[in-house]
Amino acid sequence: MKPTVLITGAAGLIGGYLVRSAARWAPQWEVCGLSRAEADLTDRDQVKAVWRRYSPSLVIHCAALSRTGACEQDPARARRINVEATRSLADMARDVPFVFLSTDQVFDGSKGHYVEADEVRPLNVYAQTKAEAERVVLENPAHSVVRIALTAGTSPTHDRSFVEDMLRATAKGTKLTLFMDEFRCPMPAGALVRALWEFAAQPRAGCYHLGGDERLSRWEIGEAVAGRYPELRPWIQPGSLADYHGPPRPPDLSMCSDKMQALLSFRLPGFRQWLASGIPNDSDPWDYASARAQ
Ligand SMILES: NC(=O)c1ccc[n+]([C@@H]2O[C@H](COP(=O)([O-])OP(=O)(O)OC[C@H]3O[C@@H](n4cnc5c(N)ncnc54)[C@H](OP(=O)(O)O)[C@@H]3O)[C@@H](O)[C@H]2O)c1
Repeated sequence: MKPTVLITGAAGLIGGYLVRSAARWAPQWEVCGLSRAEADLTDRDQVKAVWRRYSPSLVIHCAALSRTGACEQDPARARRINVEATRSLADMARDVPFVFLSTDQVFDGSKGHYVEADEVRPLNVYAQTKAEAERVVLENPAHSVVRIALTAGTSPTHDRSFVEDMLRATAKGTKLTLFMDEFRCPMPAGALVRALWEFAAQPRAGCYHLGGDERLSRWEIGEAVAGRYPELRPWIQPGSLADYHGPPRPPDLSMCSDKMQALLSFRLPGFRQWLASGIPNDSDPWDYASARAQ
C-alpha cells in the first residue's frame, strides 16, 4: 500500500494543481485532496476526524483565506483559517512531515532579493496571519514552511490566480495600471507544483523560498501575460507606485530561491522563459503538461 499524502485546499489554485499533477510527479503517494466541502479546517473536531480517516504520512497544507481584500474585511476569519486551522493540522501532524505554504508577502518589500533569514515585516492582515502561522509551524523542528511567489494558473473557480484576476477585471472593462517599480518573481503553477512534489519527496525542516528565476515588474509581468492573452492589451497601462494612494503595497518582494533550487532536479524557470517555451494554444499555459520548459 502506498503512503497517503493529505493536500488541503484541493479545490483551490495550488492544491488543485498538486492533485492533478500527482500522477506525473508523485506516483509513490496515495493522494487525498481535501476541500472545504469535505471538512472545515477551522473546526478542530473535523480536523481530528480527517486525521482518523486518512492517517496521512505527509501533509501539504494549501488551504487558506488567500485573498488580501477578504482578510482585511474580516481579520478574525483570516486568523481562524490561516493561523488556527494551521495550528490544529500541525498539532495532528506532529509526527509526520508537514509542508506549510506561506507567501513572499511576509516581507515589507523595502529590500528585495529576500533570503530565508531576512526579517519578516508584514504590511497587511493576510501577510500578518501567514507570518504568525509560520511561527506556529516552525515550533515543530521537523516541519517546513515554503514561501511561494505570485503564481499564475487556472483555478477550478476561475477567480484565484493573478492572471484570472486580470482577465476578469478587463472583461468587465476595467483598465489596469501596472506599476513599473513594483517587483515580483512570478511562477507558473505547473513548475511550482513540480518543485513542491520534489521537495515533499525529501522534506527538509525549516524555511524555504520558492519563486520564479526572474525578477519582473508588474508591468513586465502584465506585458508577458498579454503576449498570451492579447485581449488584455488595450486594458493595461504602465504606472508608478509614486502616484499610488491606497493601502500599503510592498514594492519589491523578489526572493532568492537558491536554497530550494539546490534540492531540485530541474531549473526553476523564469516567467517569460516559461511563456516563450512553445505552449500549444489550446492548453493551460501554466501547466507543466503543456510546457516545453526543462
Ligand atoms: N496563489 C498565489 O499566488 C499564492 C502566492 C503566495 C502564497 N500563496 C499561498 O499558497 C496557498 C495556496 O494558495 P491558493 O492560491 O491555492 O489559494 P486558494 O485558491 O484561495 O485556495 C485555498 C483553498 O482553501 C480553502 N479553504 C479556505 N478556508 C477553508 C476552511 N475553513 N476549511 C477548508 N478549506 C478552506 C478554500 O476554499 P473556498 O474556496 O471554499 O474558500 C480554497 O479552496 C495559500 O496558503 C496561500 O496563502 C498563494
